[in-house]
Amino acid sequence: MRIRAMQAEDLPRMQEITVAAFEHVSIDQRIDQTFGELNGHDWRWRKGQAIVQDWQREPEGLFVAEQAGLVVGGITTWHDAAAGIGYIPNLAIDAAYRGQGIGRQLLEYAIDRFRDLGLSLARIETLAHNEVGDHLYRSLGFQEVARQIHFAMKIPGSEA
Ligand SMILES: CC(C)(COP(=O)(O)OP(=O)(O)OC[C@H]1O[C@@H](n2cnc3c(N)ncnc32)[C@H](O)[C@@H]1OP(=O)(O)O)[C@@H](O)C(=O)NCCC(=O)NCCS
Repeated sequence: MRIRAMQAEDLPRMQEITVAAFEHVSIDQRIDQTFGELNGHDWRWRKGQAIVQDWQREPEGLFVAEQAGLVVGGITTWHDAAAGIGYIPNLAIDAAYRGQGIGRQLLEYAIDRFRDLGLSLARIETLAHNEVGDHLYRSLGFQEVARQIHFAMKIPGSEA
């Protein structure tokens, strides 16, 4: 397994892995379950777009794990140099390749990069019921600082 910078041609594969991986651990999926599709798009479309947005925000902050020439997972990051904070919005491993330490290595890679950038804090979020994420992040040294409630409402009078 090797970790390398994501290239534009990796984008569809990274979207595919991320969308598949976030089944049952996606806030946007909960939104669909409550409100249905929005604007003709489901949570999978929105998750795929989130990867595009991560890419557009800081293309040099996205990395993929490759095994035998196949992208099997990836991580997206961005940083705020003035605040000294590195963010990890998305991390996903193809189900067939989980439990081999790839997620951990991608996180360590991202944290090393944050250190090289001179940052002092790394941030990541997980849903409370995501036991793997909760275990993995704590085992790397992340500390829980807050729990959040996500609210959503249909805009009164809106069509879709
Ligand atoms: C979270 C994810 C990226 C981890 O990737 P991975 O390559 O399987 O992770 P690793 O093999 O490096 O480590 C998994 C750890 O979770 C542990 N684990 C596995 N199943 C677990 C469970 N049900 N409860 C608690 N811990 C569990 C493993 O033992 C391992 O910990 P260890 O290294 O201390 O033994 C991957 O499971 C995934 O893509 N999940 C779906 C998407 C997701 O949840 N992304 C993060 C959203 S915040």
